[in-house]
Amino acid sequence: MEREKGLCCLDTYSDKGRPKEQERLFEGSKKMDRTIKWGVIAPGNISNSFAEGMKEVLNSEICAVASRDLNRAEAFAKKFGIEKTYGSYEAIMRDEEVDAVYIATPNPYHKEISIMGLNHKKAVLCEKPAVLNLKELGEVIRTAEENKTFYMEAMWTKFLPVMKEVKRIISEGRIGEIRMVKADFCFRAPFDAESRLYKRELGGGALLDVGVYTIAFACDMLGKDPSYIKGFGDIGRSGVDEQDSAILGYEDGKFAALSFAISTETEHNAYVYGTEGYIKLPQFWRAREAVLVRNGEEQVIRPDFKGNGYNYEVEEVNRCLRAGKVQSDRMSWNHSREVISIMDELRRQWKLVYPGEE
Ligand SMILES: NC(=O)c1ccc[n+]([C@@H]2O[C@H](COP(=O)([O-])OP(=O)(O)OC[C@H]3O[C@@H](n4cnc5c(N)ncnc54)[C@H](OP(=O)(O)O)[C@@H]3O)[C@@H](O)[C@H]2O)c1
Repeated sequence: MEREKGLCCLDTYSDKGRPKEQERLFEGSKKMDRTIKWGVIAPGNISNSFAEGMKEVLNSEICAVASRDLNRAEAFAKKFGIEKTYGSYEAIMRDEEVDAVYIATPNPYHKEISIMGLNHKKAVLCEKPAVLNLKELGEVIRTAEENKTFYMEAMWTKFLPVMKEVKRIISEGRIGEIRMVKADFCFRAPFDAESRLYKRELGGGALLDVGVYTIAFACDMLGKDPSYIKGFGDIGRSGVDEQDSAILGYEDGKFAALSFAISTETEHNAYVYGTEGYIKLPQFWRAREAVLVRNGEEQVIRPDFKGNGYNYEVEEVNRCLRAGKVQSDRMSWNHSREVISIMDELRRQWKLVYPGEE
């Protein structure tokens, strides 16, 4: 079930005023018992991975794709054998055959297109970060509630098989009490002021692109909201954060040390340290295995893995739709809220605002 929010000492980003009853998971949408039909919105880089992943998912298919340019939609449809194409995002929303939409536009458009989908009663799986800030997330969640329609941020890492194993190991007490988390996700993309990664107008920067993974991981492992958030953000040539470090501290002395970058490459490892041992997750954001280290001995945990990994988030959405749920208990609205709250606070410290937020 959901955790209570504990952000009282950080008024700048707490989501005060949200009625408690809105926090709970609730069922409300119609249960689906047939093949679930998906529509892809914005056939760019990551939509290709999504469509590859879909090939592994049973009783589910992509039936339509929408681009701002019909030619791009047609090229994508041809590549993946998709039946219908649309030259606008609005048009696919009007397609009654489409049950769920996958949204993969640049970050500033996530809010508007998620809301558009929910108002058309389409289940929405929207790429990370869910939106730009907590205020936007509130609008999206309110729309999901009003329409009793499913909404989930596509934090695909959470559904990788190894993550389930890590949770199991922790719940069995095999590393004792968790005291510390470390995670880094730093990569180097050549500077291009016009690219999605470096352009402020497209919601660029390391925090929203990859920091979000490290923060989601820390929240998942440490299990409650931090009382201390401090970050260093290197605001670079185009006005977005290029390499950053953040510390999340908790009342009982636990902490997470995180780093993320779009201008410097690191190993992408995550660690969960407990009183009796630790777990290492190489390439944690797309992890296939974990290493459990106890008393100096290493045990590799490598569960079965199918597809390219993106299939698991689709399976989760389908599972929820078949159960008539409007949110996933594994990637809940509250989880997105916690992560965005932390990102808002870090950006506040760095004075990093996106157009429209001034
Ligand atoms: N889960 C993951 O592993 C992962 C990995 C990478 C990115 N992402 C997320 O996925 C989203 C898209 O990333 P991407 O790497 O796929 O980006 P991308 O290759 O640039 O594709 C984005 C697509 O959005 C559409 N779009 C709509 N308005 C746009 C605008 N003003 N400028 C540029 N494109 C616009 C374009 O498609 P049309 O014009 O054809 O409609 C474009 O192809 C981001 O939110 C990112 O954070 C997730």
